[in-house]
Amino acid sequence: MAELIFNTCLNYLVLALCIFMLLSDLPSPATAASVQYNVVSLGAKADGKTDSSKAFLSAWASACGSTSAATVYVPQGQFLVRSASFVGPCKNSAITVRIDGTLVAPSDYSVNGNGGNWILFRDVTGLSVLGGILNGQGTGLWACKLSGKSCPGGATNLEISNSKNVLVSGLSSLNSQMFHIVINACQNVKMQGVKVSASGTSPNTDGIHIGASTGVTILNSKIGTGDDCVSIGPGSNNLWIQNIACGPGHGISIGSLGKDQQEDGVQNVTVNTVTFTGTQNGVRIKSWAKPSNSFARNILFQHAIMNGVQNPIIIDQNYCPENSGCPNQASGVRVSDVTYQDIHGTSATEVAVKFDCSSTYPCSGIKMQDVKLTYQNQVATASCTHAGGTASGTEQPSSCL
Ligand SMILES: *[C@@H]1O[C@H](CO)[C@@H](O)[C@H](O)[C@H]1NC(C)=O
Repeated sequence: MAELIFNTCLNYLVLALCIFMLLSDLPSPATAASVQYNVVSLGAKADGKTDSSKAFLSAWASACGSTSAATVYVPQGQFLVRSASFVGPCKNSAITVRIDGTLVAPSDYSVNGNGGNWILFRDVTGLSVLGGILNGQGTGLWACKLSGKSCPGGATNLEISNSKNVLVSGLSSLNSQMFHIVINACQNVKMQGVKVSASGTSPNTDGIHIGASTGVTILNSKIGTGDDCVSIGPGSNNLWIQNIACGPGHGISIGSLGKDQQEDGVQNVTVNTVTFTGTQNGVRIKSWAKPSNSFARNILFQHAIMNGVQNPIIIDQNYCPENSGCPNQASGVRVSDVTYQDIHGTSATEVAVKFDCSSTYPCSGIKMQDVKLTYQNQVATASCTHAGGTASGTEQPSSCL
C-alpha cells in the first residue's frame, strides 16, 4: 500500500514537473531544444584548403528553415570559405552560429575582392554568432593598394545587414581586406568581447563600422587596425560603446557625415571608458565641407585615456579629399550637444583639442568637463573655430570655447 501511494505521488510529481516545464517553455531554445547542423557532417573539411562554402551554406539553409531554434556548428580547425551570404528571413528567430574554429578567406584577392563582403548575414531576426576567428587574409590586397596599382575594393570580413536582435560574442576578426565588421541597417545589436587585429598600415580596414542602425552596443573589445577602430555612419542612433582598447588605428569616429545633401544624422551616442594607444585620433566627429541636412547631436565621450594620440579630441568639419566638390568649403552638418568628460593622457602633437567647425553652422552646446592632456610633459593647446559651449572642472589645455 505504501508503495502504491509512493508511486502515485511520484507520478503526480513527474506530471507536475512536466506541466511546469511546458508552462515555463523549458528547455530554453538556446540549449537542448536547438537542432544542430555541424558543417563537418555536411562535408566541410578542417584542412584550411578544401573549399567548404557549400557545407556552410547548407548548414545555414537547414538552420534558417527550421521552425524551432537551430544552431550551425563549426568545430575546431581551419575552414576555407569563399564569400558566402547567409540570408533570411528564417522560419525561427533563434539561430546560433557557434564557431570553435577558424574561417579562412581565399588568399587570392581576385576571388572575393570585388564582392564587397566575405561573410554576410542579411534579413535575420534573432541571430547569435558565438566565438570563432575570421581570417580575411587581406595582406595581398593591402600591398596592391599601397603600391598605387589599381586593385579591387576588397571584402568586409563580416557584415550584418537588415537584421534585428543580434548578438556577436567572442569573435576575432583578422586581416580583413577592407572593413572588418559592418553593422548596416540593423536594430538591437550587441557585440562583446570582439577582437579586431590588422596592421596599423593596412588601408581601409576599419574595425567596426555602424551605419543606419539603431540600438547598437559594443562592449569589452580590443581593436587594433589601420583605419578607424569604430566608425559611425549616417542614420545611426542609440549607440553605446564601452570598455574598448583602440590602437593602432585612427580612433573612434562619428563620420564622415554630410557627404550627401539629404542624409540621416547621428544621435544619442555614448562612448565610455576607452584607452587609445598611439592612434591618429582619439574621439572624432568628422564631416564633409559641403552642403547637407545631416547632424550629429547628443554625443557623450566619457572616461577616455589617451596614450600618445595625435588628435585626442577633434571635430573636423572641413573634410574634402583632393579639395574637389566642396563649394565654399562649409559643412551643412549641425554638430550640437557634444560632451567630453574625464579625458586625460598624452597628445603626440601640441594641439590636443581641436574644434574646426562649420562657418555656416557653428558647433553648439559643446561641454568640456575635466579634460587634462599634455604634450611632451607640458600642457598642450586647444584650438577653436566656430565652436560654442562651456567648460568646467580641470581644463588643460584651457578651454577655447
Ligand atoms: C539613448 O541610447 C541608449 C542606448 O545606448 C538608450 O538606452 C536610451 O534610451 C537612448 N535615449 C533616447 C532618448 O533615445
